[in-house]
Amino acid sequence: MPASGRVEAIGRIASARRDMPLVAGMPSCHPAPGPLSGRVIAACVHLTPETVVLVETLRGLGARLRLCAANPLSTQDGVASHLRRLPGVEVILGTADWDGYRWAVEEVASQGADLVIDDGADLILAVQASPDHAGRPLLGACESTSTGALRLQAAQDSGSLGVPVFAITRSAAKRLYDDLHGTGQSVLDALLRTTNLLLAGRVAVVAGYGTCGRGIASRLRALGAQVVVTEISPQAALEASLDGLAVRPMAEAIGDADLVVTATGSRDVLTEQHLIRAKNGVILANAGHFDVEIDVDWLRGTGPGTAVRPGLVSYSLPSGQDVLLAAEGRVVNLAAAEGHPPAVMDVTFATVALCLLELGAADPKTSATTGLQHYSAGVHSVPAHIDTTVARLALVHAGVALDVPTNAQQAYLRTWGGPVRAGTNRDHAE
Ligand SMILES: NC(=O)c1ccc[n+]([C@@H]2O[C@H](COP(=O)([O-])OP(=O)(O)OC[C@H]3O[C@@H](n4cnc5c(N)ncnc54)[C@H](O)[C@@H]3O)[C@@H](O)[C@H]2O)c1
Repeated sequence: MPASGRVEAIGRIASARRDMPLVAGMPSCHPAPGPLSGRVIAACVHLTPETVVLVETLRGLGARLRLCAANPLSTQDGVASHLRRLPGVEVILGTADWDGYRWAVEEVASQGADLVIDDGADLILAVQASPDHAGRPLLGACESTSTGALRLQAAQDSGSLGVPVFAITRSAAKRLYDDLHGTGQSVLDALLRTTNLLLAGRVAVVAGYGTCGRGIASRLRALGAQVVVTEISPQAALEASLDGLAVRPMAEAIGDADLVVTATGSRDVLTEQHLIRAKNGVILANAGHFDVEIDVDWLRGTGPGTAVRPGLVSYSLPSGQDVLLAAEGRVVNLAAAEGHPPAVMDVTFATVALCLLELGAADPKTSATTGLQHYSAGVHSVPAHIDTTVARLALVHAGVALDVPTNAQQAYLRTWGGPVRAGTNRDHAE
């Protein structure tokens, strides 16, 4: 790694630290020894400057960490070498392919852990499956993606999830900051970097109108694109429609699209049957967690492809049209841009850190004596008190003050309808 790469990484880490006051300030709010003192945390995460800030905080809270990369394309080399220099932190990197990823996950899992932070559920399942958890009973985990939460829910339904897992996407603050605003903005950043496309007047198809899809669609629209949504959920399709967007099946929408962004968390959203109908020059990008939303293998089977710009490859279909694929169909804002800005990751990682503190405090060995809540095996939403704490901290740092309900207001809200005076609110009183 050239010295300039390390200097750049250090600059980015310092900037992330400045923009992540919630996470960076956490050790001073939770003085050691605390629930994370002496704990081993295994983590499968994107190796970015923001992750360094989380790692520093968890170290400050007393934990040791073993890390692997959730996605080799999002790994920033300067960051990985900075993390390697931190005491109490081990970074295990495999080759930049699926086998290398699996190897690194298994390697991290093989030593067991008290707690896991994951981005896709592979590490949680691997630590759980490692023989006797290498002598460390796993207390619980945090899963950052909705796809990972779905996989863990499936494991729970089949009776094979043995630990409590907090689904970080099921947190109001995370969905707002990370999925809606963070993904929305950084996907657009990646699209502009890879394509340099003028979006105004273009037809942009967004597959999936969940939280990520809504963020992407709103920004495409703000830049003048005509947004069309494809959906399988009646509620999400209705929401898109009421938001003023066209909703069409992909097989129809693809013919008019200048750009398609997938954000479904599913697979085979764009396959041969759609792509043969695509307009010449259509650009495809994926914002979903896994690179299975676009049938990249089929595209690659059409020929070698031509690099058009960094991160953009053009494939010529047998029918003569060119189809351009961004970032090899991998999660585009991480593979072709910088992922979420630090301020977004601050909220997500503050939620992760508070969840780990909660799980550490809920250790069955000690929680019986402390009387703290014990969490059963299974996928849990982020506890409401953690969500509230994160929102309050974010507001404090943003300099936003709230009204405080009076005692009378609190009493009124606790009682159905409150005291009803004669002649008022009759309909409700009857
Ligand atoms: N790029 C990022 O930075 C980032 C950030 C967070 C989440 N994600 C990933 O993005 C994906 C979506 O996340 P989300 O939080 O918006 O999920 P979500 O569950 O809120 O929304 C997904 C939507 O896609 C729809 N859908 C499913 N299959 C479809 C199909 N075949 N065609 C059209 N629509 C379909 C669903 O009905 C749903 O409305 C997941 O893979 C998630 O892990 C990416």
